[in-house]
Amino acid sequence: MSRVFSGVQPTGNIHIGNYLGALKQFVELQEEHDCIYCIVDLHSITLPQDPALLRKNILDVAALYLAVGLDPKRSIVFVQSGVPAHAELAWILMCNSYTGELSRMTQFKQKNKGRESAPAGLFTYPVLMAADILLYDTDIVPVGNDQKQHIELTRDIAIRVNNVYGETFVVPDGRFLKTGARIMSLDDPTSKMSKSAENPLSRISLLDGPDIVKKAIMRSTTDSEGSIRYSRTEKPGISNLLTIYSVFSGKSVKALEKQYEGQGYGTLKKDLVEVVWESLAPIQEKYKNIRESEELLHILEEGAERAATIGAATMKRVKDRFGLGLK
Ligand code: AMP
Ligand code: TRP
Repeated sequence: MSRVFSGVQPTGNIHIGNYLGALKQFVELQEEHDCIYCIVDLHSITLPQDPALLRKNILDVAALYLAVGLDPKRSIVFVQSGVPAHAELAWILMCNSYTGELSRMTQFKQKNKGRESAPAGLFTYPVLMAADILLYDTDIVPVGNDQKQHIELTRDIAIRVNNVYGETFVVPDGRFLKTGARIMSLDDPTSKMSKSAENPLSRISLLDGPDIVKKAIMRSTTDSEGSIRYSRTEKPGISNLLTIYSVFSGKSVKALEKQYEGQGYGTLKKDLVEVVWESLAPIQEKYKNIRESEELLHILEEGAERAATIGAATMKRVKDRFGLGLK
């Protein structure tokens, strides 16, 4: 069975972009693969976090993982900082990464915009991500399109180490969806839906109530042409709504274009409100039950133990190859 690993940052506002680009794949993959899903809290402190809020967000994301359908009997679910080997391996990989390649990361360039000086962790963040992946001999990494460059870097580092020190790491592949890998913002469909955008109506969070879902969709930016057809360049707003509709309903974009031929944007939007809410309501119901339960903590503790055992075997191999420590 191939190994799957992915992670989500506990920074609040998990939105339908995260769900459609990442979480939904996580659930599908656990049917046939050996899956490990992480809440990457060490990644989130690359930018300042409120400690109490971070603790809350970690449990929120963990509960959401389970609410969308991750099954702790089949998948390992755990919090990154509970397995110290992530940070340990990150250091070793940092010594095998170059400042030149890290300066080319577009996510770093975006997050660094307008700053005089960036935290070193913001710069080395992709190396920690590489450590997350390589620690578990991962074959497949399901993520949204925005992580493509980080996966490429992970592969480069793995291949580099293998070439110098001998076979050490499994070289992973990214897994990106054809539809849903890049859900755009509802108020500005030329930028991606993000947790941190100022306008809350630019996104739909998985825990938003029906009123907000309705408001965000009905107010979403479209165009003045009036016909419902898919074209990312000419009609980014309508194309984004069609994509969201398609992934939530399972109908193809082509089928939706046909279904809505000759109809107005209002009809499409109203139906989309229904489709989205039908998917979110059961997730929220399940979330409420899990979030406050003792079981959540047990699942995370057990997950960390299982992850640590797998990671320890990799660390032993890595230290042997590098000649670190004693035998
Ligand atoms: P993050 O919120 O950055 O921790 O991202 C968690 C996962 O969601 C990653 O796999 C991202 O690639 C994915 N993701 C984030 N934003 C979007 C988006 N707008 N559309 C699709 N996937 C996304
Ligand atoms: N960097 C990813 C993001 O911002 C989150 C992440 C951290 C991740 N480590 C990972 C994703 C390992 C996949 C595998 O979305």
